[in-house]
Amino acid sequence: MAQSRDVAVLVGSLRKGSLNRMTAEGLARLAPDSLALRIVEIGRLPLYDQDLDDEGRPPSEWTDFRERVKEADALLFVTPEYNRSVPGVLKNAIDVGSRPYGQSAWEGKPGGVVSVSPGAMGGFGANHHLRQSMVFLNVPMMQMPEAYVAGAGDSFDEQGELNARTAGFLRKFMTAYAAWVEKILAS
Ligand code: FNR
Repeated sequence: MAQSRDVAVLVGSLRKGSLNRMTAEGLARLAPDSLALRIVEIGRLPLYDQDLDDEGRPPSEWTDFRERVKEADALLFVTPEYNRSVPGVLKNAIDVGSRPYGQSAWEGKPGGVVSVSPGAMGGFGANHHLRQSMVFLNVPMMQMPEAYVAGAGDSFDEQGELNARTAGFLRKFMTAYAAWVEKILAS
């Protein structure tokens, strides 16, 4: 079999019991064999400060993160919504990866987003604010199917596995995402 595509997964929650992290782990299990999903940790990235880049002394956490993202073939964001937008921890990771100017780690990589919320709207606001930033960063984000996982507190069984209904939907999402990745990488 051809080597699988390396997908960097960015999870927008640092919480131990995070529904988003559980979803990301579930997505890794559901993904077609053509994709290898790996969570890239963002919780220890210092807050972005442009002086550190301008003065040539970026923290090693930034440079390691940028290298890891650059290595990846594709990007998958799994994020909660905070106050109708993207959590600051994820926005910080996006900003860190986008600099120094002209050297963005995100450039051109195929992207996708799954937003996950215990609420009824499935993180719609975060999903679309994230798209706004990533489109600006020249990341082609898959448009359809969209993935808003609402009522996520009920999406898992007692072992933390996605229930059949959510897994069925997300399996279809991942099949479409795998095709999107190949299409963008071939273009
Ligand atoms: C939230 N939450 C939330 N939910 C939502 O659907 N829309 C929102 O705008 C917000 N805003 C918000 C702000 C802040 C600061 C917090 C801490 C939480 C609730 C959120 O969806 C819930 O805590 C999720 O469980 C977070 O995802 P994880 O941590 O389970 O992955």
